[in-house]
Amino acid sequence: MAKSRNTAFFCKECGFESAKWMGQCPACREWNTFVEEPVGKSEGPSGKIRPLQKARPARLSEISIDERDRDSTGYKELDRVLGGGVVAGSLVLVGGDPGIGKSTLLLQVCRNLAASGKKVLYISGEESLKQIKLRANRIGQVSGELLFLCETSLDGIQETIMEIKPDVVIIDSIQTMYREEICAAPGSVSQVRESTNLLMQIAKGSGVTIFIVGHVTKEGVVAGPRVLEHMVDTVLYFEGDRHASYRILRGVKNRFGSTNEIGVFEMREQGLTEVENPSEFMLEGRPENASGAVVACAMEGTRPILLEVQALVTQSNLGIPRRTAAGTDYNRVNLLMAVLEKRCHYEMSRYDAYVNIAGGMRMNEPALDLAIVLALVSSLKDKPVDEKTIVFGEVGLSGEVRAVSMAEQRVNEAVKLGFTRCILPQICLNKMKATDKIKLTGVRNVREAISEL
Ligand code: TYD
Ligand code: MG
Repeated sequence: MAKSRNTAFFCKECGFESAKWMGQCPACREWNTFVEEPVGKSEGPSGKIRPLQKARPARLSEISIDERDRDSTGYKELDRVLGGGVVAGSLVLVGGDPGIGKSTLLLQVCRNLAASGKKVLYISGEESLKQIKLRANRIGQVSGELLFLCETSLDGIQETIMEIKPDVVIIDSIQTMYREEICAAPGSVSQVRESTNLLMQIAKGSGVTIFIVGHVTKEGVVAGPRVLEHMVDTVLYFEGDRHASYRILRGVKNRFGSTNEIGVFEMREQGLTEVENPSEFMLEGRPENASGAVVACAMEGTRPILLEVQALVTQSNLGIPRRTAAGTDYNRVNLLMAVLEKRCHYEMSRYDAYVNIAGGMRMNEPALDLAIVLALVSSLKDKPVDEKTIVFGEVGLSGEVRAVSMAEQRVNEAVKLGFTRCILPQICLNKMKATDKIKLTGVRNVREAISEL
């Protein structure tokens, strides 16, 4: 195959193309992101793209929308993140660390879709058919029309799709796919970009729903250019702690619904199962009567999740005390300690402090502030907080407790899980209806909250 020997430099972040290497990308301002890749089309036999059907302009009134265009994936948790089910002809990117369960999730979705009468084609560029079979055995019975293919050439894949006309296609993973006419190696910026481009044409042209698996880099972005995220309709991230069994599916971009929804799954022996009540899950195995532990209520989209905030405050032997924050924002913890020092006159600078969100969940919502403050004080004084109490509220720099959104949903969640008392911002309390199911204590500032302990 004759290939032109030219190369160009591409930004790994945004796909910007340049003739020479540059330290900083002029488009996205990231440093040291340029990689050299061959450019130009190879003149192989399959160098030409087959044109898809020619599109015709249409009036709005001629376009029919059908609610049945959304298909359930068989998982309520996933349907919610997708905005109510998958839309036919959409392109969905599922990103996540290696080994988090992307292939498992999609295989289970395939099983459900095939069982509901869809024709599904699962294309793997990473695993052999035997490996897929082993995994399928673990997730249980497969019925209906579910086909598997091991292939990495997208031109071949395009032909197969045209030939067998599936309803749903899974591409596992985009980094292993290549187009023959691009000289660069699979996984490179130009390959990933062109491959996604072709998949988008296939999805939009023939109405096939395509799920793409994408690996993420250390920094937590999908490897390959960010243009990948621009091209697809929906971007979902599958995240979770390696050591914890739960997994969170987060919508980052969605052309068919809101992006602030999450789905919670648990990895078990037989694959992933849905977790319908994440609060219960997060509060499992809570220590009894331990100081420095406070239950907080955070929101994930429209969903309240109760979490245990833990703090350990110990005398420091160092000139600069140690502070760590696991699962929450380190700078926020520092700020809250400064508030305690200045507004409540605790000598925090003499103590090391470790803050942790139990269960491995990551949460940066300001509504956790008050719980972090109370956990710190509880640990400092070595005084346990009543375990049937939940706390939420944002803390400002003058030590005031500020209102947070959706207070009522948070309180309802606490009632549902059997909590008997809630410490919340006074402003939120003023707007709420009285209830006798739970004792509500409004606080105006951090000092009031501490005196309520
Ligand atoms: P996988 O879906 O292969 O991850 P990805 O495609 O994101 O790289 O998930 C693999 C992990 O999941 C592996 O560590 C084993 C675990 N697993 C289970 O615990 N139970 C199961 O039933 C399956 C299929 C996998
Ligand atoms: Mg995989």
